[in-house]
Amino acid sequence: MFAVYAAEPNSDDPLAALVVGERPDPEPADGWVPVTVRAASLNMHDLWTLRGVGIRRDRFPMILGCDGAGTLADGTEVVIHSVVASPGWVGDETLDPKRSLLTEVHQGTFADTVVVPAHNVQPKPASLSFTEAACLGTAWLTAYRMIFVKSGLRPGQTMLVQGASGGVATALIQLGRAAGLRVWATGRTEAKRALAEELGAHGTFESGARLPERVDGVFETVGEATWSHSIRALKPGGVIVCSGATSGPNPGAELQRLFFLQLRVVGSTMGTREELRDLAGFLDVSGVRPRIGLELPMDRAPEGFAAMESGDTAGKIVFTR
Ligand SMILES: NC(=O)c1ccc[n+]([C@@H]2O[C@H](COP(=O)([O-])OP(=O)(O)OC[C@H]3O[C@@H](n4cnc5c(N)ncnc54)[C@H](OP(=O)(O)O)[C@@H]3O)[C@@H](O)[C@H]2O)c1
Repeated sequence: MFAVYAAEPNSDDPLAALVVGERPDPEPADGWVPVTVRAASLNMHDLWTLRGVGIRRDRFPMILGCDGAGTLADGTEVVIHSVVASPGWVGDETLDPKRSLLTEVHQGTFADTVVVPAHNVQPKPASLSFTEAACLGTAWLTAYRMIFVKSGLRPGQTMLVQGASGGVATALIQLGRAAGLRVWATGRTEAKRALAEELGAHGTFESGARLPERVDGVFETVGEATWSHSIRALKPGGVIVCSGATSGPNPGAELQRLFFLQLRVVGSTMGTREELRDLAGFLDVSGVRPRIGLELPMDRAPEGFAAMESGDTAGKIVFTR
């Protein structure tokens, strides 16, 4: 079948490991179902996979794509939940030490067909297009959990999103705005800050800029480049929710501020299938729709990867079949 895959890890030149070609048709194991992919979105995770981060060398070649939307054999339209728990695991899948995301152990969604455990599909609300639904499984689910499950923030409080144009950042801005939070965002260029405002941010700032006042919560996916600013941006008792470290994973800890101001640092990863169901429900009733910055037929996937690698994002990058 048609597939976009990583031939082997390449830490120096990840795009050199990207292949648009053919892979064997998947064989569903017992309890797994094939999904005919209609759309799938690109995540930074796919670039990490090309670099060989978070995946064993003997897993290559690996079809890329952590999330997507498509149809089951009976025509049911579904959204894919990417967190694959180990057999017999009960409860929050994200806490299963043996969990994996699609593309870490099992083949991903940038293909004609992907196979997943039967409980890893959720009905797609009819109000969402396949392209929109393809954004939910990773970036939007991660943002949903960060705000609604992990942060403890309430409507009326102020949140700062580090980054303006990325997949998770745009989801945080749009979800936060729809939930009644005051949303501030930092962006590296004027165009990115303008996008954040268009998506609902009440205020935007250059990366690292002094804010008009301290905030209740900061939402971090950038890491080293913004961490110190995130710590300094918080009110006493405030919270940083962190789900990524694009610019590097080892920032200064700023422990004095952490304990004197009684800050909380909370890690967050993906979300449960119930949270994915509720995210889909929230978009259905609120009318919020993922901002898609670039939509391409899947055979032009390398153009999307190049845009993400160069930081040229304006929302989600989606590939269609
Ligand atoms: N833990 C999880 O479950 C999970 C799930 C999804 C994503 N993630 C992680 O979250 C991160 C973002 O993923 P994504 O798919 O949203 O990527 P993306 O679409 O490429 O977005 C990258 C974001 O990072 C910002 N950024 C990058 N380098 C920066 C720097 N040096 N200084 C300031 N801002 C910088 C960009 O801000 P501008 O808008 O200003 O360019 C942009 O908002 C990745 O590290 C990914 O692995 C984790």
